Amino acid sequence: MSLPLSSSILDQLSTAVMVCSANLEVLYVNPSCEALFELSQSRALGMPLFHLLQEASEGSSNWFDLPKALSRVIDSGHPFTRREALIRVGLQDKAVDYSVSLIEPQEKEKWLLIEFQPIERLLRISRDEAQAQQYQTTRQLVRGVAHEVKNPLGGIRGATQLLARSLPAPDLREFTQIILEEVDRLTLMVDTLLGSRQPPAFVSTNIHEVLERVLPLLNSVQNTPEALALNQPVQLIRDYDLSLPELSADPNLLIQVVLNISMNALQALTEQAPTSARLPRQITFRTRIQRAFTIHGICHRSVIRLDIEDNGPGIPPALLESVFYPMVTGRAKGTGLGLSIAQDIMQLHKGLIECQSVAGRTVFSLFLPWE
Ligand SMILES: Nc1ncnc2c1ncn2[C@@H]1O[C@H](COP(=O)(O)OP(=O)(O)OP(=O)(O)O)[C@@H](O)[C@H]1O
Ligand SMILES: [Mg+2]
Repeated sequence: MSLPLSSSILDQLSTAVMVCSANLEVLYVNPSCEALFELSQSRALGMPLFHLLQEASEGSSNWFDLPKALSRVIDSGHPFTRREALIRVGLQDKAVDYSVSLIEPQEKEKWLLIEFQPIERLLRISRDEAQAQQYQTTRQLVRGVAHEVKNPLGGIRGATQLLARSLPAPDLREFTQIILEEVDRLTLMVDTLLGSRQPPAFVSTNIHEVLERVLPLLNSVQNTPEALALNQPVQLIRDYDLSLPELSADPNLLIQVVLNISMNALQALTEQAPTSARLPRQITFRTRIQRAFTIHGICHRSVIRLDIEDNGPGIPPALLESVFYPMVTGRAKGTGLGLSIAQDIMQLHKGLIECQSVAGRTVFSLFLPWE
C-alpha cells in the first residue's frame, strides 16, 4: 500500500512515525521508527501492531489500556497523547511519549498515525552537556597538575645520576636506581596525561580498516602460550555493515580508541570471574549507520556507530558514572587513563562515546559524524 505523503519527507524526520490499518496491522514505519524498534521496514510491514508496540507498565500505577484507547480513536477520530510510557523493545524498556491520531486516506478507509518521541534521548542529551562540561574541567585540572609535576622531573633525574656517580659505596646505588625508576614511571604517566603533542592528521578513513588493524593485535595478546594455558581465547566477532561511508579521521588515533576500549573488554573477560562458565566469552564489533543523532548540540542526519560489546562481568555500578574520568580504575594494575584518552580523541573527531553496562553485557558505543 502506498502512502499519500511523500515518504522521502518522513524518512528525514527524527520523530519515529508508524502508520497502521484500522485492523491494527503495520503499514509503514519511517527510519527513525525502525531505529526505535530495532527492526527493518520489511520485517515490520504487515506485523500486528501489538507484536511491536507493548507497554511495559502492566500492573503498575502507570498502566494504560492501549487497545481500548486505539479503538476509541478509530470510532471517534479524537487523537490522544500518552506521556512517559515505557515500551518494550527486545529485552529493553524504552521511555517514550507517543501520540495517536486518525487519518482517512480514502473514503471508508481509516489509518492510525502514531508518532513516538523517545524521551530518554532528550534526557541523555542534557546529561551529556553537563557531563562534557564537568569532564572538561577535570581534564584541565589534571593537565595542570601533570604539567607542574613534569617540570622538576628532568632535574631530579639529572641530579640523581650525578649523585649515583659520586656515591662512595656501590651498594648505595641501589637507592639512586629506585629513584631513577620511579622518576621514569612518573614521567611516562604525566606524558600520557598531557596527551600527544602532535596535531591529528585527518584523512579519509574506513572504520573497518581501523577495526582490522586492532583485531589482530587483540589476538596476538591472547595467543601467547601463557594466556592459552589459562583460558580458551576470547572470540572476536565481526558484525559489520560494509556499506558505511568513509569519514574524515586520524586512523592512528581511532586505532588507539578502539584498542583502549577492547583491551578493557578483554581484561574484564580474562581477569575477572566469569558470569557464567558455560557461555563462550565474546567481544562483538558491530558497525551501523545511526540516523538523526545529536552530539554536543549538533543534530546530524546520520552518524557512524560502532558498538564494542562484551559478555563479561560488567562495570561495577559505583564506577559506571565516572569511568571516563582520568585516574578512575577498577583494576589493581590499571592507571585509569584508557577511557579518558579515548574520550579526548573522540572529542577531537566531534564524536561521542556512550557506555551501558550490566552483568553479562557491556556496550561501548562510539558515534562519529561523517558528513
Ligand atoms: N568492558 C568492561 N567491562 C568491565 N569493566 C570495564 C570495562 N571497560 C572499562 N571497565 C572498568 O573501567 C575502568 C576504567 O577503564 P580505563 O581504560 O579508563 O582504565 P584502566 O583500564 O583501569 O587503566 P588503563 O587503560 O589506563 O591501563 C577499568 O579499570 C574497569 O574497572
Ligand atoms: Mg583500560
